[in-house]
Amino acid sequence: MYYLRCIDCNEKFERDDIYTCPKCNGLLEVVVDLSNADFKLDGSNISVWKYRSLLPVKIDPITLNEGGTPLYEMEKGVYIKHEGMNPSGSFKDRGMTVGITKAIELGRKSVACASTGNTSASMAMYAARAKLKAYILLPAGKVALGKLAQALMHGAKVIAIKGNFDKALELIREVCAKRGFYLLNSVNPFRLEGQKTIAFEIVDQLGYVPDAVFVPVGNAGNISAIYKGFKELKEAGYTDTIPKMIGVQAKGANPIYRAFKEGKKDIDPVPNPETIATAIRIGAPVNAKKALNAIYESKGFAIEVTDEEIVEAQKLLAKNGIGVEPASASSYAGYLKCEEEFDRVVCIATGHLLKDPEEVISVVGKPIEVEADINAIESVL
Ligand code: F0G
Repeated sequence: MYYLRCIDCNEKFERDDIYTCPKCNGLLEVVVDLSNADFKLDGSNISVWKYRSLLPVKIDPITLNEGGTPLYEMEKGVYIKHEGMNPSGSFKDRGMTVGITKAIELGRKSVACASTGNTSASMAMYAARAKLKAYILLPAGKVALGKLAQALMHGAKVIAIKGNFDKALELIREVCAKRGFYLLNSVNPFRLEGQKTIAFEIVDQLGYVPDAVFVPVGNAGNISAIYKGFKELKEAGYTDTIPKMIGVQAKGANPIYRAFKEGKKDIDPVPNPETIATAIRIGAPVNAKKALNAIYESKGFAIEVTDEEIVEAQKLLAKNGIGVEPASASSYAGYLKCEEEFDRVVCIATGHLLKDPEEVISVVGKPIEVEADINAIESVL
């Protein structure tokens, strides 16, 4: 039905209880049997589980109705796929519905992750639904309030460390190895399988394959997953082409961009990443090799955007009725820097505006306060 394959040494494994290659420690990829594909790309009933025939699960899934997110036209031929419309407000839910289901299949009682915020919010929500314990490591003071609120309210044990995301990921991997917690960061190949459905939905909704897909890149899982989705559609005979995958990074957290510029297949970590887009404030993306491969194979590229460009794109999207958090606006910001190159484009907006209310207030300001008096109100209209 499916197996795991190491992207470095090519070894195959018919087991579900590993995250990386037991032989060489390389990243693993799920290889599914494409002849099983039984869905029609007719635009109807889109959701993650419409594509179950290409998802590696054996039991009925733990689901909160993820996926089926809207595709909004910004200008002619330019669409925003609003992943903020998922149950927890980010694309992570697509991966989590599969990852949490896998945790249940494996009989695990506890799940864990390191996070810049959204993964933790999503994991906490799905763990609550599945009655699993959730453990989370966060970079102290660097997680947007909305995400933190979600993780706490859904009952996860949330631990903030005096270090950045990269350090938190290193530590949670150690904790999982010691305690037997199921790791739900994007190094987990099953989680990425859920996220490949973004590609399926894009073709399902548009009825064609766009020329390019712009994706914000942090830990580099999502761009790898989306590319895999497009590749599977082509190999299964649904489509003839694969879009150029464009990875967009914040200038202060840009290891993938740097590696791409130098034509490298792997990154040199950025030691102290910094950006207003805290979701992608990552210096050592764990899926870097997969992401660079997606960019090279699809003949795409990586691009960097400044914090100012991110905020400008966020405001432009908001003016068009599309509310997203800063990291999510980076894909559109990237597009705006090279718009003349493409006719048919999809930008992935990865998370909802409400995730980071503090950033919003810091860039748009507070409401005008006046006396409860008609004249006072008239004076500021
Ligand atoms: N956009 C948002 C809103 C995110 O939360 C993330 C990642 C990304 C983009 C980048 O996706 O990591 O697959 O390249 N957030 C992770 C987290 C790291 O912990 O929530 P990626």
